[in-house]
Amino acid sequence: MGLEAKISVLPYYEIKHPEISRIRVFPTPEEAAQAAAEEIIGVVRVNPQAAITYATGDTVIPLYENLARAVKEGRVDFSETSGFHLDEYYPCGPDINEYPHGFVAYLRQRVFTPLGIKNANEMNGLAPDPEAEAKRYDGLLSAKPIEIAILGIGPWSAETQTGCHIAFNESGTPFSEKVHVQTLDPVTLMRDRQERGQDSPERALTQGVANILEARRIFLLAYGEKKGQSLREALFGEIGPQRPASALRLQGQKVTLFIDEAAASQFGKL
Ligand code: F6R
Repeated sequence: MGLEAKISVLPYYEIKHPEISRIRVFPTPEEAAQAAAEEIIGVVRVNPQAAITYATGDTVIPLYENLARAVKEGRVDFSETSGFHLDEYYPCGPDINEYPHGFVAYLRQRVFTPLGIKNANEMNGLAPDPEAEAKRYDGLLSAKPIEIAILGIGPWSAETQTGCHIAFNESGTPFSEKVHVQTLDPVTLMRDRQERGQDSPERALTQGVANILEARRIFLLAYGEKKGQSLREALFGEIGPQRPASALRLQGQKVTLFIDEAAASQFGKL
């Protein structure tokens, strides 16, 4: 390849929104994930001790693959960063054989180990007293300003008018909530059954909207038409607990959305 410089230019456009500062739209999820990874890498290069909150789920898998590749190639070092867990089913333990849907197992496998993060802060989904565990985890978060919160968004149901969760903050959860025990919305449980083939516990531990809004930067990734419908509710529906992701509009200057054209195609159909 010689000394030829390889510059990759990502084709994308931005959608203007009154509250959210950046909505970046890419032709494909892969390109959106690559762009999000590059922004995160840029932040970690400037602040090698950054504390980062990591969502789990399908959407963020390509993002984490990009980050793992960059670490392998020696382009960035995450070893001094701190990793934070966004949410966890309750009860749920780290043993992937016993709890194949668990988020601790996911994070260890896709984030903490491949990125070499030494300070990984996990929620204990088997804690005998989940309320006490929520308090403990909230204490950990208060001690470290979060540089980036990486999020996905949950499904929206037109029928029940519930959904578009961030972390496991379901419709009706006050924006003032910190880490807490959450009863999962039937829309989430049905998504888990239909799309993941799992019977999830009915409760979870989750960072609250208030924790998420404290992060310096919030990156939300969403792809496909269904996620576009969730985003449409969050971005253009009424701001309030019925649409948890609408809370991001209260701190919109911190927020970047990385989405694909299929998701953006839903915004026109209000
Ligand atoms: C997971 C989480 C959830 C997911 C959301 C989307 O840690 O916090 O809010 O981000 O349910 O999940 P996927 O990406 O699987 O569609």
